[in-house]
Amino acid sequence: MILLRCIFLLALSFALEAKEVFVLLGPPGSGKGTQALVLIEETDLPHISTGNLFREFLASTQQDNPLAKQLKGFMEKGELVPDRYIIEILKERISEPDAKNGYILDGFPRTLSQAKALQEILTPDDRLIVINLSVPDHLLLERLTGRLHCPQCQQTYHKTFSPPKKESFCDLCETSLAKRSDDEKETIQKRLEVYHKDTSPLIQFYKDKGVLYTIDAAKSKQEIQQQILSIYREQLKPASTP
Ligand code: AP5
Repeated sequence: MILLRCIFLLALSFALEAKEVFVLLGPPGSGKGTQALVLIEETDLPHISTGNLFREFLASTQQDNPLAKQLKGFMEKGELVPDRYIIEILKERISEPDAKNGYILDGFPRTLSQAKALQEILTPDDRLIVINLSVPDHLLLERLTGRLHCPQCQQTYHKTFSPPKKESFCDLCETSLAKRSDDEKETIQKRLEVYHKDTSPLIQFYKDKGVLYTIDAAKSKQEIQQQILSIYREQLKPASTP
């Protein structure tokens, strides 16, 4: 009986623990994946990229799997995967033990209904910080058409701005690098259209909640990193220190 109570209290304290939740918001190619790395290093929280979750699922699933076929269709057309899939997948991922202190979201939320679903998941004690990476469309096209990605570990490179040490091979796992199938010019245009229509309204949504920090992400990676770090250190750390 005592043991059962201890287990119950432990489970309750796990469920009630306040979390630090970061949202990296921004158009395709604004550097969400790139800048997630600095937050991972600083906070030790897991990086949850919904795009990476889908790509990993597709890589590990038979091509004729009906769900895989549907997902691939949405992604290759530059359309959003319907909310009914994405919200369940996210809930499952953030219930894993590594996310008990919080997580860094990259690519989620992308619609107002996803943002509302996230608000329902968060408790009043959780601390949410939304970093909005702002980049004009013409730079995004250049970044995405030159991007190389590692299909094995998902590390990202750029032919000009961030080349791998050994041409065409991942620095981390030596896998041969590839272009993402949605990084073709026409699909990029569609992704940008979808961003402006469905995702950019979240800027106002989070501004109204007082949790939005907008960064000029047309700058160098290092400058952006520094700004993210100062936001984290100035806005979040003091509240957690006695
Ligand atoms: P996802 O994988 O999330 O793609 P995305 O949002 O379009 O963003 P990207 O991964 O393309 O760009 P990024 O901002 O991470 O930039 P990166 O750091 O790589 O989603 C893919 C698809 O999955 C969606 O289209 C949709 O179908 C589906 N999906 C995912 N989440 C969904 C959701 N919540 N709901 C519904 N559907 C969903 O940088 C880009 C390039 O620029 C790199 O080469 C990098 O080296 C370079 N770079 C980065 N920063 C700089 C800099 N400061 N200066 C110069 N170059 C830079």
